[in-house]
Amino acid sequence: MKILMVCLGNICRSPIAEGVLQKKLEENNLDVQVDSCGFESYHLGEHPHSMAIQTAKNHGIDISGQRQRLFKEEDFDIFDKIYVMDSGNYRDVKKKSRNEEDMQKVDYLRNVIHPNSNKHVPDPWSGTMEDYEYAFQLIDEACESIIKRIQYKTL
Ligand code: 4NP
Repeated sequence: MKILMVCLGNICRSPIAEGVLQKKLEENNLDVQVDSCGFESYHLGEHPHSMAIQTAKNHGIDISGQRQRLFKEEDFDIFDKIYVMDSGNYRDVKKKSRNEEDMQKVDYLRNVIHPNSNKHVPDPWSGTMEDYEYAFQLIDEACESIIKRIQYKTL
């Protein structure tokens, strides 16, 4: 199985989501691949935002080696599940989709816990460390639920 985390910039939320899920997958010996990407090319090829790196580090997760990349159409072929952080990301992914099958792979990350609620992971970019920590907690909770679903084969 392959899981893709998507946000706008791919320097704050989705890199944290990739790092959090990656760590949980390793801790649980699960053979699942995770990646992340975004839609805004301004930070192409850059490492995650320093506050995202620090927030993850505070929780024992190293995301400093990640590099920003853009969402591409082939991601629909590569990944089984595509999780977005907010409705803007959902619209961006939908614009790239080719058919209904593509969109069946896409869901809001927080819907893992609150099905069909379409709740956002608020963008902490240009915010405070508290904003980053809040985003981390939401992401962490959702990723914990993804792990359970993989284990119970309900993802
Ligand atoms: P992210 O935050 O989507 O959580 O990575 C953002 C980072 C950068 C930009 C937008 C959102 N930007 O426009 O550069």
